[in-house]
Amino acid sequence: MDIQAQYGPLRDRVDAAIKSVVDTGRFILGPEGEALETEVGERLGRPAAGVANGTDALVIALRALDIGAGDEVITTPYTFYATAEAIARVGATPVFADIDAATYCLDPAEAQKKITSATKALLPVHIFGHPAAMGELMELAGAHGLKVVEDAAQSFGAVTPEGEIATLGDIATFSFFPTKNFPGFGDGGMVVCATEELAERVRRLRFHGSKDKVVFTEVGYNSRLDDLQAAVIRVFLPHLDDWNARRAEAAAWYAEEGLGDHMVLPAVGQGYTHTYHLYVARSTRREAIRDALREQGIGAAVYYGIPMHLQPVFAGLGYSEGDLPIAEECASTGLALPMHPNLTRDDVGTVVSAIAAALG
Ligand SMILES: Cc1ncc(COP(=O)(O)O)c(C=O)c1O
Repeated sequence: MDIQAQYGPLRDRVDAAIKSVVDTGRFILGPEGEALETEVGERLGRPAAGVANGTDALVIALRALDIGAGDEVITTPYTFYATAEAIARVGATPVFADIDAATYCLDPAEAQKKITSATKALLPVHIFGHPAAMGELMELAGAHGLKVVEDAAQSFGAVTPEGEIATLGDIATFSFFPTKNFPGFGDGGMVVCATEELAERVRRLRFHGSKDKVVFTEVGYNSRLDDLQAAVIRVFLPHLDDWNARRAEAAAWYAEEGLGDHMVLPAVGQGYTHTYHLYVARSTRREAIRDALREQGIGAAVYYGIPMHLQPVFAGLGYSEGDLPIAEECASTGLALPMHPNLTRDDVGTVVSAIAAALG
C-alpha cells in the first residue's frame, strides 16, 4: 500500500471537505452522511445507510433480516474474522463451507451440502475483491428460501455476470477502513439494502432501535458513520473506478512479468471484474518469498493464515484440520504482494525479480 501517493493529489479537496464539516458543526447524521448515502444509493440503485464500521454493518444487516439464536448462516472460512464474528454476535451459528480454489470465494456446491432445516442465510464474501459466484448462490438461496448477505468490505465496484456486487443479495455491507479499495480516513461502514423497508430497519438499528430518538422499539446499536468520514469518502467516490482499473492493470503486469512461473496467480472468472483490494498469489514457499521481499524493503503479508473453522474461538463447533481442504491450502500458501493504484510496471518487475531470486 502507498496511502500518501494515493491521497496526495486529492489533499486540497479532502482538506476543504473536512473544513466544511467543521464550519457547519454537524458531525453525526448530518448532510455529508446523507449525501454519501444518496450517492452510493444512486450508483447501486438501492438504498444505503452509513454505519460506524464494516463489522457493525454485518451485525446490523443480520439483525435487520431477523437472524439470531437457533439460526445457521453458511459462510466462507477464508475471510477476515469479522465475517464469522458478526454471525456469532447476533446469536446465530456460523457454518463454514469450502471455497473455490481459483477465486478463493465460497463454493456454491459446498454451501449446498451444508444446508439444514436451521439454515437462514448465505453470507458470501467477495474476498480480496473477487466477487463470489452470486448467480449460483442466489439460485441456491431461492430454492431453499434463504436470505443472502454480501460481505462487500473488500470489493466496492466489482462486477459479476449478473451485475455489480451489493445489488444482488438481500443486503450488502461495506467497510471504509483506510486500507480498503474504497477507503475513508478512519472507521466507517455502509449497509446497502434490496428494499426501502430493510433500509428503514437498518437506520433504526444504527440509532438504538429508534426512528425518532423518542420512542425506542427494539434494542439496537450506537453505530453511525460520522460526517467527517462521509465528507472524505465523498471526495474519493468519483475516483474509485479509476483506482480499481489501475489496480487491475497492476495485476495484469504481475502476469506479464512472469509471476506465474513462480506462484499460483489469483484468477478472474469469466464475466467478473476484480477490485484487487489485495493481490494474493500462492506458493508452498511463501515464507521464503515474504522474507526475501522484506529484506529488500518490499511489503508482503499473509492474510487469513488460520481459516475461520480452525480458529480457537470456534473450537466448540467441532471442525478439525482437513475438513475444508481448499480453504486450508489457501490459508497456508497465500501471500499478499504489493498492490495499490500507484504501483508502476517497474515496481511490479522488481517484485517479480525478487521472488524469482528468492526461489533460486
Ligand atoms: C471481509 C471483511 N469483512 C468485514 C470487515 C470488517 O470491517 P471493519 O474493519 O470496517 O469493521 C473487514 C475488514 O477488515 C473485511 O475485510
